[in-house]
Amino acid sequence: MKVTLSVIKADIGSIGGHIKPSQRLMDRVDEYICDEGSRLLIDHYIGHTGDDIAILCSHQEGVGSRKVHKLAWDAFKAGTDTANEEGLYGAGQDLLKDSFSGNIKGMGPAIAEMEFKERGNEPFLLFCADKTDPGAYNLPLYFTFADPMHCSGLILSTKMSKGFKFTIMDVEYTRGDRVIELNAPEDIYDIATLLRDCERFVVESIQSRQDGEQAAVVSTTRLHNIAGKYVGKDDPVMLVRAQGSFPATGEILSPFSIGHYVAGFMRGSHVGPLMPVPKNSSVSFFDGPPVVSSLAFCVHEGMLTEPADAFDHPYWEWVRGNVSRKATEIRQQGFFGPAMLPYSELEYGGIVEKLNKIDKKFKVRKKK
Ligand code: F6R
Ligand code: MG
Ligand code: MG
Repeated sequence: MKVTLSVIKADIGSIGGHIKPSQRLMDRVDEYICDEGSRLLIDHYIGHTGDDIAILCSHQEGVGSRKVHKLAWDAFKAGTDTANEEGLYGAGQDLLKDSFSGNIKGMGPAIAEMEFKERGNEPFLLFCADKTDPGAYNLPLYFTFADPMHCSGLILSTKMSKGFKFTIMDVEYTRGDRVIELNAPEDIYDIATLLRDCERFVVESIQSRQDGEQAAVVSTTRLHNIAGKYVGKDDPVMLVRAQGSFPATGEILSPFSIGHYVAGFMRGSHVGPLMPVPKNSSVSFFDGPPVVSSLAFCVHEGMLTEPADAFDHPYWEWVRGNVSRKATEIRQQGFFGPAMLPYSELEYGGIVEKLNKIDKKFKVRKKK
């Protein structure tokens, strides 16, 4: 049967700063989805990564369904009431518009969706990241879908020999969706040329060239562009189908062992290594480090299994140790050089005011 998976996530308030939502808030969102979504959805799962709550749901309404988007929006609204009652910090932070207008895209929450005909068995992974932006997935997706150094299936399997099509979005363009389609392996230099610039070019989706099936989809919203000011980093979500004509689960996870440096961390304005964490983890050191969780599911006739927590394994504890060291290394140089993001990417306006004030005091020396 055809099924749609939608993951919609938002920061609607957290305990003690931007650390994690309260249990009561999580329960309220779950309760709302259970009560109001029972006819619309086949199944759902709710979890958090850092301060963001993710609603994963399966249904048959297709991608971009007004009904599903409204349900998630209303669940986040109901949660915001609870967050306000509890006095949580940043209650309703990601709900940038006053009323729902048909599609949750562009309203604050991050969303990734895909519709497909279920295979006999259908494993997929849900990734949720906090304190970073969608470009954080560029490197792992490149390695998994274009590089046999991480995806051995690209050379060992006959089911992936035609490679994958990358759809890449220019997220700086705000008048519409500006996208390009490039094929791996022929176009890998062009893919790499774009993906190195994580703040501008972001992988939106990936398709198998073997059978045309969609393999991955990423949320591409940039909150900064919607709100015109800092309202939290974009904290992206991603769905990736695994096994068969797609990379194996372990090949999808492999690049996350690098703990690559991404934009985000404190005040969304720094550079920090992306730490793979177990489900329902909080953030801590310097409002970070940037974190990513990965939950593996199977979906059958729209019903979800319980999640297998992919980063909850002794191997990833070793990775987390390395990532902590990388985080400490870069933090030692504070705001200098690459430790803080370039001027154009700084999320707080204070520095602009300061620079404007200082700028007036500059003098050009007269030539003698
Ligand atoms: C939130 C985040 C945090 C905040 C910081 C200051 O996602 O990344 O690092 O930017 O805690 O928060 P405010 O400005 O709300 O006091
Ligand atoms: Mg936040
Ligand atoms: Mg967040």
